[in-house]
Amino acid sequence: MVCFRLSPVPGSGLVLLCLVLGAVSSYALELNLTDSEKALCLYAKWQMNFTIPYETTSKSYKTVTISNFGTPTYNGSICGDNQNGSRIAVQFGSGFSWIVNFTKSVSVYSIDSISFSYNTGDNTTFPDAKDKGILTVNESVAFKIPLNDIFRCNSLSSLVKNGVVQNYWDVHVQAFVQNGTVSTNEYLCEKDNTTTTVAPIVPTTVPSPTTTSSPTTTPSPKEKPDVGSYLVKNGSDTCLLATMGLQLNVTHDKVASVININPNVTGYSGSCHPQTALLRLNSSNIKYLDFVFAVKNENRFYLKEVNVSMYLANGSVFSFANNNLSYWDAPLGSSYMCNKEQTVSVSGEFQINTFDLRVQPFNVKDGKYSTAGPLPPKRCFSPSLHLPPCWVQSPPQEGSRLELLLQFRRLKKVSPG
Ligand SMILES: *[C@@H]1O[C@H](CO)[C@@H](O)[C@H](O)[C@H]1NC(C)=O
Ligand SMILES: *[C@@H]1O[C@H](CO)[C@@H](O)[C@H](O)[C@H]1NC(C)=O
Ligand SMILES: *[C@@H]1O[C@H](CO)[C@@H](O)[C@H](O)[C@H]1NC(C)=O
Ligand SMILES: *[C@@H]1O[C@H](CO)[C@@H](O)[C@H](O)[C@H]1NC(C)=O
Ligand SMILES: *[C@@H]1O[C@H](CO)[C@@H](O)[C@H](O)[C@H]1NC(C)=O
Ligand SMILES: *[C@@H]1O[C@H](CO)[C@@H](O)[C@H](O)[C@H]1NC(C)=O
Ligand SMILES: *[C@@H]1O[C@H](CO)[C@@H](O)[C@H](O)[C@H]1NC(C)=O
Ligand SMILES: *[C@@H]1O[C@H](CO)[C@@H](O)[C@H](O)[C@H]1NC(C)=O
Ligand SMILES: *[C@@H]1O[C@H](CO)[C@@H](O)[C@H](O)[C@H]1NC(C)=O
Ligand SMILES: *[C@@H]1O[C@H](CO)[C@@H](O)[C@H](O)[C@H]1NC(C)=O
Ligand SMILES: *[C@@H]1O[C@H](CO)[C@@H](O)[C@H](O)[C@H]1NC(C)=O
Ligand SMILES: *[C@@H]1O[C@H](CO)[C@@H](O)[C@H](O)[C@H]1NC(C)=O
Repeated sequence: MVCFRLSPVPGSGLVLLCLVLGAVSSYALELNLTDSEKALCLYAKWQMNFTIPYETTSKSYKTVTISNFGTPTYNGSICGDNQNGSRIAVQFGSGFSWIVNFTKSVSVYSIDSISFSYNTGDNTTFPDAKDKGILTVNESVAFKIPLNDIFRCNSLSSLVKNGVVQNYWDVHVQAFVQNGTVSTNEYLCEKDNTTTTVAPIVPTTVPSPTTTSSPTTTPSPKEKPDVGSYLVKNGSDTCLLATMGLQLNVTHDKVASVININPNVTGYSGSCHPQTALLRLNSSNIKYLDFVFAVKNENRFYLKEVNVSMYLANGSVFSFANNNLSYWDAPLGSSYMCNKEQTVSVSGEFQINTFDLRVQPFNVKDGKYSTAGPLPPKRCFSPSLHLPPCWVQSPPQEGSRLELLLQFRRLKKVSPG
């Protein structure tokens, strides 16, 4: 037997009105699952919302947030036992489903995985979606809770996968409830327990070689990121061009998370001024990633500053800034190129790996990179390569000033932090 209800958040008297207006409102979902003897076996009450990016038929990207679950059903939720795991399964809207699996061992139970499916064929929720079908994001969580304790996490936890952001808060859950009574012992998540340093709820980190077997980690992408093209306009003229694959490497609690930026779901903006230029990227999990370029000695430009603010897998916001950088140095009016992987060390905890990089933050003419000019001098080639790893391509009038930058060699001397 399943009992459920969708209860408005206490204290929110405007819920009905909000619904009518289609405005954003938040609801708590609640589930009392009982076994064949009608004894409570699983209790859960929580709030969540989902932000989903999708590609439209016009090749642009849209983002929708799902925070209204209508009248959900809980078909497929099971109590579980020593052999079989327990499960909360929620269906809502048109083709949405959300499943959490629990397993039990001698002294603990685990939130194993969370799987969220949505149907881009639902043209009300996903207008103009290019691809129609059911997509699933499945995240291994492996979070352990003492048996007979109720887990509570009022703080926000966010899962980010394939651009989909799952937010959870006001979470209360107990699987494998004993004797039909919800426990009075609370087990708090790290953020709620201010006196502790329990492992983060959902690490989605690259396992280091010694912890590859750890069940709590999900490998993040380590493959080369897709190359994105970004531009900034001043009025109707393009004033900054950048083409690059970006991989962020965030070290948090001594664990490095490597995140590839997917240009398909990354927005960009910026501004150009005579002495500085800004390129700002953003996506559902990156609030902003700023590249600030500056002019030096009136004839060269360089990457001076990187500012980032992003959500980590455990829901915390991480911000870094360094305005004292010196990368991608090239003459004004030229573009800086580097095919080889390069690292911009913003801090000891934050690095950006770039691939197939090309930037021109100043003096862009006709919306194009400065391309003409002789090939880089032969002596700069590494014997096995047809192109040097990093070089500068100047406009015709400055062709003779084409120069090779052994930037990556210099980078090796930059110690993290
Ligand atoms: C679930 O059980 C709790 C505790 O017995 C009760 O307060 C709550 O109203 C129940 N919720 C539903 C949806 O049945
Ligand atoms: C989704 O949840 C987050 C965290 O509670 C909140 O900041 C955000 O405003 C919510 N979005 C919507 C559209 O409800
Ligand atoms: C859930 O089960 C009920 C009754 O068993 C059924 O009427 C309903 O269609 C089911 N919903 C879904 C989404 O499968
Ligand atoms: C465990 O699941 C299997 C397959 O779904 C089922 O046949 C079996 O009866 C379940 N065991 C218990 C104790 O419920
Ligand atoms: C939950 O467990 C069921 C049965 O073991 C499995 O089919 C399903 O894929 C699991 N779902 C998740 C999200 O792990
Ligand atoms: C959504 O799809 C249905 C049937 O597939 C169609 O009748 C309807 O016009 C579509 N609505 C929009 C807004 O495209
Ligand atoms: C989700 O991932 C878990 C753990 O990786 C796996 O056991 C489960 O079968 C997966 N579920 C689905 C629906 O893919
Ligand atoms: C459940 O009931 C049994 C028998 O009355 C008792 O031994 C056990 O301690 C109870 N468990 C909990 C968690 O209350
Ligand atoms: C809070 O953290 C401390 C230290 O890890 C732990 O001993 C304690 O049980 C935690 N409290 C709760 C309520 O989870
Ligand atoms: C990420 O940063 C850590 C710590 O600086 C480093 O050990 C690791 O090699 C880096 N990984 C990648 C893929 O850049
Ligand atoms: C981005 O979109 C292109 C074309 O639709 C596709 O080939 C590519 O795989 C996508 N990249 C990612 C990382 O999703
Ligand atoms: C931006 O456009 C204005 C107006 O056309 C122009 O005066 C200014 O020099 C431009 N700035 C840059 C940095 O290109």
